[in-house]
Amino acid sequence: MKPLPPGIEIVGLTEADIPGFRAAVGSVAAERRWLMTLEAFPEDATRGFVRDNLLRGHPAVAARFRGTVVGWCDIVPLAPFEGFRHNGRLGMGVVAEWRGKGIGGALLDAALALAPRAGFTRVELEAYASNTVALELYRSRGFEFEGRKVGARILDGRVDDLICMARRSG
Ligand SMILES: CC(C)(COP(=O)(O)OP(=O)(O)OC[C@H]1O[C@@H](n2cnc3c(N)ncnc32)[C@H](O)[C@@H]1OP(=O)(O)O)[C@@H](O)C(=O)NCCC(=O)NCCS
Repeated sequence: MKPLPPGIEIVGLTEADIPGFRAAVGSVAAERRWLMTLEAFPEDATRGFVRDNLLRGHPAVAARFRGTVVGWCDIVPLAPFEGFRHNGRLGMGVVAEWRGKGIGGALLDAALALAPRAGFTRVELEAYASNTVALELYRSRGFEFEGRKVGARILDGRVDDLICMARRSG
């Protein structure tokens, strides 16, 4: 595992991180390539999301540099129904200028380490087929290919597939 850049800390996301988390999501979304959303979620929705994760013990971690959120990884329930509670859905991102420095790997490891205690023995995600860095990162952490949603996104003149992956630990 790469040593993290000096000053980067991987921490549980707190209420104090809400504005920074929202800004980080907004900056990655605005690239229009990696996330489904193309902009930050509204303030209220972001606050509700972070508070709910804290209250329910869902894995939600952040990378901080001098108090600023530069990356995140969270695992939230896929569906609130009996029979599905062992399924978590993973989302993550690292702000562009901080990529390729080991932060994404460290965030993913930290969130996955918290998953069993939240009851998530299966963690799933979807990534665009063009997102080779993310797909390689997930593969390296034991996620397996489960399927492909062909032509799921048509954006800015480009057609992209969604790759479905999951990791089982229980
Ligand atoms: C995917 C993402 C989170 C990875 O974070 P990162 O900090 O850049 O990743 P790391 O530096 O920790 O690298 C983790 C692994 O990714 C892969 N990787 C990183 N940079 C790569 C590159 N340029 N080419 C190919 N693979 C690469 C490697 O497998 C690497 O493992 P290693 O550390 O053993 O070399 C980041 O690129 C990102 O935020 N992308 C945009 C948002 C996004 O795609 N979110 C996920 C949506 S499903």
